[in-house]
Amino acid sequence: MPTREVATKPYPDQRPGTAGLRKKVAVFQQPHYLENFLQSIFDCHPSLRGASLVIGGDGRYHNRDAIGTAVAMAVANGVAKVIIGQGGLLTTPAASHLIRLRGAAGGLIFTASHNPAGPEGDFGVKFNVAGGGQADVALTGKIHAHSRELARYRICDGLEIDLDRRGTQQVEGLEIEVVDCVEDYAQLMQKLFDFERIRDWIKRGGRLRFDALHAATGPYARRILVEMLGAPAASVVGGVPLEDFGGGQPDPNLIHAKPLVEAMMGAEAPDFAAASDGDGDRNLILGRGLFVSPGDSLAMLTAHLDRLPGYRGRVHGVARSMPTSRAADAVAAALGIECQQTPTGWKFFCNLLDAGRVTICGEESFGTGSDHVREKDGLWAVLAWLNVLAVTGKPLAALAAGHWHRFGRHYFQRHDYENLSAAVAAQVTSALRAQLPDLPRREFSGLQVTHAEDFAYVDPIDGSQIEHQGLVVTFGEAARIVLRTSGTGTEGATLRLYLERCEPRDGALERPAAEALAPLAAIAEQITRIGELTGRKNPNVAT
Ligand code: G1P
Ligand code: ZN
Repeated sequence: MPTREVATKPYPDQRPGTAGLRKKVAVFQQPHYLENFLQSIFDCHPSLRGASLVIGGDGRYHNRDAIGTAVAMAVANGVAKVIIGQGGLLTTPAASHLIRLRGAAGGLIFTASHNPAGPEGDFGVKFNVAGGGQADVALTGKIHAHSRELARYRICDGLEIDLDRRGTQQVEGLEIEVVDCVEDYAQLMQKLFDFERIRDWIKRGGRLRFDALHAATGPYARRILVEMLGAPAASVVGGVPLEDFGGGQPDPNLIHAKPLVEAMMGAEAPDFAAASDGDGDRNLILGRGLFVSPGDSLAMLTAHLDRLPGYRGRVHGVARSMPTSRAADAVAAALGIECQQTPTGWKFFCNLLDAGRVTICGEESFGTGSDHVREKDGLWAVLAWLNVLAVTGKPLAALAAGHWHRFGRHYFQRHDYENLSAAVAAQVTSALRAQLPDLPRREFSGLQVTHAEDFAYVDPIDGSQIEHQGLVVTFGEAARIVLRTSGTGTEGATLRLYLERCEPRDGALERPAAEALAPLAAIAEQITRIGELTGRKNPNVAT
């Protein structure tokens, strides 16, 4: 089959964001657009030559086409072997695991995560490196710069691959292995968690519901929760992946997983419910009558991690992204383990995980995970929680109440102001940045600012530095306000305002978050004037 060099024109907009290159489907469908970006990856990461490459995606519209292109370009660029999830499906954490398991030199994951899918929706590509983590800032910068100069790409014509048939096919010196997308991942989960205890918890009447939101985790949840752990088949809803995710947005939060949240507030609620996102790396955790905020989930899992088989005696530290609430810090202090604060984006955890400095990490954006892979992992969080419920024998609400009584409660909310003009978003940010030096020691409704900064990070392992990762106003241990610009949106600019307030252990621990945070939201408006400058009375989404 002929390998061709195709002349291409560079696309100036191929700058990867917080998690890969994410654009509207129509953008990806432009002639040579995907090819251009992929060639840039092959050129900037020469270790793929002669090595293995993992390929999969979240199953959204355009996934199969993109995989076909990626395989045809892999052949033409000298990759020795590609390993593809059956049907083109791999969740992000399963892909990360497969890269590690097979010693692959990298992986291509076609996903726009929790963004809507379909011809009008979004598409994306993430590039992961050996070890299973996302390409770091230096490599993504290089790939972007190269994509702007690229004049040619290499592709092999006429490849016919059957994505649905498991097994190995040989084409043009390339070995193509189509694997069961669940098997290896399920085995890994079995090593980490006490499946026997969870099975027993279910047998004794523990009820759970998992909503895959018609995205990639469906087959994983059916195999693990139903077939391996014995949950009734009806426990998994939205378990069949659809190209448009059934028209909904596969974003496991209080807004987009509303039916699940409402079911958990009713009298017939099961003991535990959870949902994941398009590519299976996010998680929403609910108990009967209770939403566990991601910051609390991280803190509570850290507190219990040592009781789970895969982690016994090896919980070395915890990391959280900067805007994530400081609930985990309190647990780390009590356990005497390291606690790290990193910029937003999972890739910043990878060095710490590789070095064994931290064992568990999480982000406020419904991401939790551990050193078992180098991505956040939705089903991992679900299984970790089920294991905690099984070993403690307590309802989730009682565990949360106990946690808050011991450590205090970090009320947390994120307010998103979406689809703003770039100019307005920049105006809000620069106005706050300009004020930062004057804020310390000023008092707002009884809260005194102790520190105000434009967050910069020095990686403790490789010394790499990054600036402007969000503006932070800290009121001692009591509260924080954070403002940052999203790096994953595909329409206009999105500003995120993060509010965190710690209620001491003897305080009012059982209030709705919005109510507990209302005074801080007013202070945030006073300081940032975000409502006034954007002309928005309310954020588009508050989670
Ligand atoms: C968002 C989240 C961030 C997460 C990323 C990828 O990025 O805030 O925590 O790592 O999606 O899932 P943002 O749009 O804020 O840049
Ligand atoms: Zn995701």
